[in-house]
Amino acid sequence: MSVLDDLNRLREDARRAFERVPGTRELEQARVRYLGRSGELRAAMARLKELAREEKAQAGRLANTVKGELTEAYETAQARLSADEAPAHARPMPDPTLPGRAQPRGTRHPLTQVIERVVAIFERLGFDVADGPEIEDDFHNFTALNIPEHHPARDDFDTFFVRGGGILRSQTSTVQIHVMQNRPPPLRVVAPGRVYRPDAVDATHFYAFHQIEGLAVDTDITFADLKGTLSLWAREMFGEETGTRFRPSFFPFTEPSAEMDVSCYFCHGRGCRVCKQSGWIELLGCGMVDPNVFEAVGYDAEQYTGFAFGMGIERIAMQSMGINDIRLFFENDLRFLGQF
Ligand code: DAH
Repeated sequence: MSVLDDLNRLREDARRAFERVPGTRELEQARVRYLGRSGELRAAMARLKELAREEKAQAGRLANTVKGELTEAYETAQARLSADEAPAHARPMPDPTLPGRAQPRGTRHPLTQVIERVVAIFERLGFDVADGPEIEDDFHNFTALNIPEHHPARDDFDTFFVRGGGILRSQTSTVQIHVMQNRPPPLRVVAPGRVYRPDAVDATHFYAFHQIEGLAVDTDITFADLKGTLSLWAREMFGEETGTRFRPSFFPFTEPSAEMDVSCYFCHGRGCRVCKQSGWIELLGCGMVDPNVFEAVGYDAEQYTGFAFGMGIERIAMQSMGINDIRLFFENDLRFLGQF
């Protein structure tokens, strides 16, 4: 077959192919086949040099024409296909009458909500927020808090030991020590944070939980300041009618020590399941700072007095929000967390 015949056949085949390609992949295949570097047009042009002079000129002109036409056919096909792929203006308009898709709103963790409420009240009473490490040393978790080595009171605050040294704090009372080591009196601080104890896990125990510690130190703080401050806080927290009572207790770092109960904020003291018919809910430990603690941090125990308190967050959250299993706080299940 002559080169001219070849070129004419190629012209027809390729044009038809470009007109019919159904998609960009097929278009690219056709481009490679007809116009590519080792495609049919190049092959036909390579044969021009076999021709005699006159024929060569004629075939050369035809080859150029074919090349122009096919390039155009390729571009036309390209435009057709990209129009199929719906440019923005050709796409269907969004339907403004459809109902919107709601973005679910996040909520703060129930424990965070309780911590924030407790802390906000103390902030209004002039307390700062303090913070301390969760990995502690023996001095901050025990010794400085008047719990000497080998003393049985250590058992109450047993904890996890960290390989390579250090322990996980078992109470936020450690922050009292950090604050007093770093600041001179007078001071008033609250310290929310996570603590650890090697408790067997069940509906009311977990190996990690949260406390809020409080400490006020000044030259003439008395037990009356403790009672007044905590009773006012309880009324702000649980309602104006909330009563408080203080029962004698023992903590190594306070003397005297007390447990504070609040009148049940469910039944207002009449007796219900939450308060186990007693009318009272046990809320926190407190007391006057033991002079030994002041001495451990270098405060003058003759000049200064103070009160301290510590409360568990999980129990307050569970009672006030009707949550019956402490493990729910730590499972990160949005079906639970989203309810608060
Ligand atoms: N740290 C105690 C606990 O974990 C709670 C506590 C009681 C803290 C009395 C205090 C306090 O500051 O004065 O059980």
